[in-house]
Amino acid sequence: MNHKTRKWNFKGNEEQELVISMNSALRMLEENLNKEDQKPSIFLGYADPAGIFQTDPLAADAIADAVRSFQFNYYPPAVGVLEARRAIAKHLSCDLPYQLSPDDVFLTLGSIQAIEIITSIVAQPGANILLPRPGYPPYEANAVSNGLEVRQFDLIPEKGWEVDLDSVEAVADDNTVAMVMINPCNPCGNVFTYQHLKQVAETARKLGVFVISDEAFGLVTFGSNPFVPMGVFGTIVPVLTIGTLSKRWVVPGWRLGWIVTNEPNGFFEESGIVESIKNHLEVTSNPPTFLQGAIPQIFEQVK
Ligand SMILES: Cc1ncc(COP(=O)(O)O)c(C=O)c1O
Repeated sequence: MNHKTRKWNFKGNEEQELVISMNSALRMLEENLNKEDQKPSIFLGYADPAGIFQTDPLAADAIADAVRSFQFNYYPPAVGVLEARRAIAKHLSCDLPYQLSPDDVFLTLGSIQAIEIITSIVAQPGANILLPRPGYPPYEANAVSNGLEVRQFDLIPEKGWEVDLDSVEAVADDNTVAMVMINPCNPCGNVFTYQHLKQVAETARKLGVFVISDEAFGLVTFGSNPFVPMGVFGTIVPVLTIGTLSKRWVVPGWRLGWIVTNEPNGFFEESGIVESIKNHLEVTSNPPTFLQGAIPQIFEQVK
């Protein structure tokens, strides 16, 4: 019997084949363009600012200094290098009514890995997660591949893409564990107001769910609304904030992101979420140590 006729016990994961990434969808569109058609086409590239803007040379200096210091050649701790976590906690605390500690910060390989980790740890049997519609497709892709049921709530175009709070309440039930907010919003571009975020926090509290606040575009805003981090409402509802160097510092290729527990009451500790994040980070890849080592200098010198 040769290897082609032999019956093997293994095969690809059929569930995962259902997942289409944004890149593959864009590739599919591109491949199916009618080549004969002379009309100009627009490249629907994904949000890679490095194709248009340059990072500050001081950020590159910080990386070079970290490498040349020879102090960051070791395997990083699973949760991240302490100095980096301290710098991120200090940076984010400026906009909060309470102080974050380095223990609230967990470093990830870009915020995509933060999404992977969070959707995997909340994927208990029967659990569901609420995602905005329109939204950022990796949430659905990761939820589906982790066996987490997705339910969608609407953003209302006529109201500047505010969350339809009635639709949140309509789709949630006792198995709902979290709702995702993307602020500033991808794909809609709006920045949610303080008042509206407070209403979202109160709704989540009423439903007994925590908020995953994706702030990948924090401080990269359009329009007149100032950016307010969801962590401001951490005393109303527990918030896991997702952040990244990718957009604000224009270095998506550096793959450095973070998860922050914004929640002064300790519910993430009590509920085991913090332990689950740590456990996940123990068994996965972490951002390179020299990148983590450069964070304090980047935050200090790049304004
Ligand atoms: C809303 C949002 N979250 C997360 C990410 C992932 O960013 P990264 O993995 O580069 O940190 C992106 C990238 O475009 C995004 O738009």
